[in-house]
Amino acid sequence: MPNGNIQGINKQGFMDSKLKAAADEFLVRYGGDVFDRLFSRASGARVYDEAGREILDFTSGQMCATIGHNHPEIVKALHQAGETALHMFSGMIPTVVAELGRTLARDWLPAPLQKSLFINTGSESNEAALRMAKMHTGGYEVIAIGGSWHGVTGASAAASFASDRKWYGPSLPGI
Ligand SMILES: Cc1ncc(COP(=O)(O)O)c(C=O)c1O
Repeated sequence: MPNGNIQGINKQGFMDSKLKAAADEFLVRYGGDVFDRLFSRASGARVYDEAGREILDFTSGQMCATIGHNHPEIVKALHQAGETALHMFSGMIPTVVAELGRTLARDWLPAPLQKSLFINTGSESNEAALRMAKMHTGGYEVIAIGGSWHGVTGASAAASFASDRKWYGPSLPGI
């Protein structure tokens, strides 16, 4: 049973039965259905629901979490960032960011790729990819396929056909 510090469990160690209702009422959702319960923690290939039940996570997290939930090295890096700097003005390049860019270029990226752009979400990655493709080709038209999902921001949503496209006003031209 998780301890009282975990979200969804009150200080006495009991589940907050109203929290799921609050999530339904107060959180904006999009896309598919959500599970009928809340989840309080995750580790490796396992997630734990609000009642402390251990469940094998065959979704692997959100696609990118294939190294497992809360990998100790990631947790360590987050702690370090919390103790040094979490976020800076865009004109200031943190030393750790320069290090990561160099490591990726030297050890990971296939030639001739060597530049990195660090952003936060899949939607932003696709925005950036579309902008780069347009700049590189000089074109602006994009082919997107039915059932595609690229995110909720402007161009990413315009290139997505897996969810409803009505009621959002005009979409990006050229898709
Ligand atoms: C294939 C694919 N592309 C893009 C996204 C958007 O990612 P994010 O939600 O991080 O913006 C998702 C998210 O589900 C996705 O599955």
